[in-house]
Amino acid sequence: MSTPVIEIKNLSKFYRTQKAVSGLNMTIEKGDLYGFVGANGAGKTTTLKILATLLRPSSGEASVLGHEVQINPHEIRRRIGYMPDFFGVYQDMETWEYLDFFGAAYRMTPTERERRVGDVLELVGLSAKKDNLIGELSRGMQQRLGLARVLMHDPELLLLDEPASGLDPRARLEIIAVLQELQKMGKTILISSHILSELQQLCNKVGIIERGKLVYSGPVATIPSHGKKILSGEIMVADHAEEATAALKVDPRVEEAVFADGLIRFKLKPEADDLSIAAEIIVQRGFRLRMLREVGGGLEDAFMRLTSAELEGGPPVLPGKNEK
Ligand SMILES: Nc1ncnc2c1ncn2[C@@H]1O[C@H](COP(=O)(O)OP(=O)(O)OP(=O)(O)O)[C@@H](O)[C@H]1O
Ligand SMILES: [Mg+2]
Repeated sequence: MSTPVIEIKNLSKFYRTQKAVSGLNMTIEKGDLYGFVGANGAGKTTTLKILATLLRPSSGEASVLGHEVQINPHEIRRRIGYMPDFFGVYQDMETWEYLDFFGAAYRMTPTERERRVGDVLELVGLSAKKDNLIGELSRGMQQRLGLARVLMHDPELLLLDEPASGLDPRARLEIIAVLQELQKMGKTILISSHILSELQQLCNKVGIIERGKLVYSGPVATIPSHGKKILSGEIMVADHAEEATAALKVDPRVEEAVFADGLIRFKLKPEADDLSIAAEIIVQRGFRLRMLREVGGGLEDAFMRLTSAELEGGPPVLPGKNEK
């Protein structure tokens, strides 16, 4: 197998006494579109900054495109595109001018810059806004411009810190489409998010980080359902829904049942392992069952279980600065 594009071994980072990353191991192969998922304060930004060589690790190793972050940061910077979670844009600059400025910082010639500005604007769908002031672009367009900026020097690896945060669904889809296009072009992409389902369609692999540690890495499809699965579902009865809800509630195998909007939503006790228990209760008590379906059990559910298992050791640490 070829050398991984990113290889992190036992990486830790402390900010004074605050532990941000703790014994992290992670491998990303060439061509991966890798989703880096975790709650606020889990350590995503810290990890990305270390990979972008903007922050020094406290201990452990991280190599990017075959170079150690501590030894060869300049070589790494030349070949990656890092999009931070917050970036200032110069409202009074024209779109093309902004990109041209970054091209110059990468020592591209004026001719190269002109061609490249055209290419990246085309790629992110902003060609029509070439001569507009940045201040005249919408939030989603500015975000796409941020992406165009990190593409100027044609990097092999993209490190994107929540590139779709704060965008409406349509603007998110636009960003996602650009990322898919970039993957087709052979780029390796590491993208962070705190929404697992958002990355589900997009990424071929995900890594779930919790309190500075990777609790899962691999294809989305094989995220384990950690611990005992709690079954929950919805029921519709022909009539007497309130009474049917009460009947469920008193059964020792049922954790809770609530009736609202024409549906009885219920959760079974952890030891109950078959959803049909609920149907059995309803039918045996003489109610007419119209519908029973499972809810949850999906990706967010697996994520919550994976990360809450890590938290059992103590109360969650609420990061002050990270509350958005
Ligand atoms: N400059 C800093 N000084 C002190 N502590 C910090 C600093 N930056 C981050 N931290 C702490 O390190 C931990 C990890 O923060 P980090 O920003 O990496 O998380 P994150 O996963 O990116 O979170 P978010 O989803 O909110 O962006 C948090 O506990 C945070 O409070
Ligand atoms: Mg962050």
